[in-house]
Amino acid sequence: MSDRDQERRTPTARALWGGHFGEDAAPLMERINASIDVDRRLWREDIAGSRAHARMLAACGIITPADRDAILAGLDQIAYEIEQGRFAFSPALEDIHLNIEARLTELVGEPGRRLHTARSRNDQVATDFRLWVKGACARADQGLRTLQQVLVVRAREHVATPMPGFTHLQAAQPVSFAHHLLAYVEMFGRDRGRFADARRRMDECPLGAAALAGTSYPIDRFMTAAELGFARPCANSIDAVSDRDFALEYLAACAITAVHLSRLAEELVVWSTPQFGFVRMAEAFTSGSSIMPQKRNPDAAELVRAKAGRICGDLERLLVVLKGLPLAYSKDMQEDKEGVFDAADTLELSLAVTAEMIRTMTVNPERMRAAATVGHTLATDLADWLVRTKGIPFREAHGIAARVVRRAEERGVELHELTAEDLRAVDPRLDAAALAVLTVEQALASRRSYGGTAPERVRAALAEAVRRFGLEQDEAAGEEER
Ligand code: ARG
Repeated sequence: MSDRDQERRTPTARALWGGHFGEDAAPLMERINASIDVDRRLWREDIAGSRAHARMLAACGIITPADRDAILAGLDQIAYEIEQGRFAFSPALEDIHLNIEARLTELVGEPGRRLHTARSRNDQVATDFRLWVKGACARADQGLRTLQQVLVVRAREHVATPMPGFTHLQAAQPVSFAHHLLAYVEMFGRDRGRFADARRRMDECPLGAAALAGTSYPIDRFMTAAELGFARPCANSIDAVSDRDFALEYLAACAITAVHLSRLAEELVVWSTPQFGFVRMAEAFTSGSSIMPQKRNPDAAELVRAKAGRICGDLERLLVVLKGLPLAYSKDMQEDKEGVFDAADTLELSLAVTAEMIRTMTVNPERMRAAATVGHTLATDLADWLVRTKGIPFREAHGIAARVVRRAEERGVELHELTAEDLRAVDPRLDAAALAVLTVEQALASRRSYGGTAPERVRAALAEAVRRFGLEQDEAAGEEER
């Protein structure tokens, strides 16, 4: 430790707030109390909050312009030191707020001690954290948008590529691969909506709520709110320092997004097995086995699948921390940040990895097409044909088609491999024309209902998704990259 660091370590939190304390903190107390290793990530927000607060205090005549300028200069210096990695963060100073304030006073003297007028760490931390989470919402939106863009680019290549659609993971009906990918574009679109909603609701500034009751100084909360980019100040000072629902909403949006990513990851795992062979993951996102030379394990997809557990856990832990806390601030709330930071890092990584996996995977349309009819996936088409051309009620038509399936099973063939005689033997109304509907192309093309899988619909849906989700811009970029 250098002399300078030694010196920096001397001040303790108690020197700042412990006027009536005779004893030092127990070392164990310092360990459980210090949050600096976690909340140092809020340093930018903390400095921004202090800048806004100092300007407001001067504008309202609470500190002099000279004090303000000294504070602003000191904060600039601190930002520089932290950026350069030269700031000595001290656990004895508990958290980011006291670390910065102590250094400020060390740098500029008395004006530094005036900065805490008309504020408390309670409104300070609530403000810093909201600012940080607002930024995280914007990053999540960007990550989701990029992923949607990649999905759209891949979907465009596979509008007419048939694959088996599944229910219960049993072959159900053929769908277009693009249609399947676009399902995720919708899901991620709603995820973006959740982050946007949360961001809109958290757009209120707690600063000036002070400890909990507001302050006797003639402050201007609208000024600090505006300078920090909030739409308005929080309306109630107690609420401002008490609630962390903004973090919960962010975490909930992260958890839902992570669950969506996990489902997609699971599909990549299944699709890339040799048994399915629908896709081949890029080598860069897989690993081999030290014992089985043939292996190509989809590790990245498996990890995205698993990270959802972690992110859901981050939501859970904050819900449990907040449950039962009386208003207003309690120190329990210091535990609010680690899970949020973890969820943000994990989600942003998962989004980036997923986008890259999708962008770089090789699709095998032949395997998908071949699998599309395995498991008698055209049985519904046969029933629909009976309804459409013979006027048979659907329930009855369903029974006839089921008997055709049984016949195919007895003969050990797929539905479309049956002969005209096979069909007629089941029901005389199944004439030769019925065979014509038993193709994958027909199955896809016939499902023209709004939101259905017919290629013409999927093409329109692609254009619509690009417009609705504002994907136009990087669309051109995506195209150029390829
Ligand atoms: N480090 C604290 C936190 O994150 C800051 C607020 C402390 N307030 C207090 N009254 N001790 O919650």
